[in-house]
Amino acid sequence: MIYLDHAATAFPRSRAVVAAVEQALVHGGSPGRSGHRLSRWSDEQVWRARERLARLVGAAAPENVTFALNATAALNTIINHFAKIGGVVLISAFEHNSVTRPIHAARARGLQSPRREDLAVASRAVIESVVGITPAIAR
Ligand SMILES: Cc1ncc(COP(=O)(O)O)c(C=O)c1O
Repeated sequence: MIYLDHAATAFPRSRAVVAAVEQALVHGGSPGRSGHRLSRWSDEQVWRARERLARLVGAAAPENVTFALNATAALNTIINHFAKIGGVVLISAFEHNSVTRPIHAARARGLQSPRREDLAVASRAVIESVVGITPAIAR
């Protein structure tokens, strides 16, 4: 999972964000809801965003990019999915409530704590992936 949380920490907002919001308010319609000019324009903007985000995170296809209402809704969806399929979720001691609450709720519903061996494997995978993406971030 790649967790992008620009809005919570960035101030002042970049001019590009302000321009995009203004453009959406002036030109926006409901994407994919009709053949109206404003709807088609909005649909195209959403598709472009999917394409660019897919390239950024190395997703297989733009269709694999999902937008959520906010970070809390996205995190709940993902964490509950992993809890359901039995994946290992590693968190630090510094997580936002939007991460810790769904994990504690899943544990209350019976989600097992990971076995020590699973933690070791998952920790190695995280370290390798962080080492792997460092040069890309530096560019
Ligand atoms: C680090 C972090 N994660 C998640 C959230 C939750 O974001 P949202 O308000 O979009 O649900 C916040 C909110 O401030 C946050 O600071």
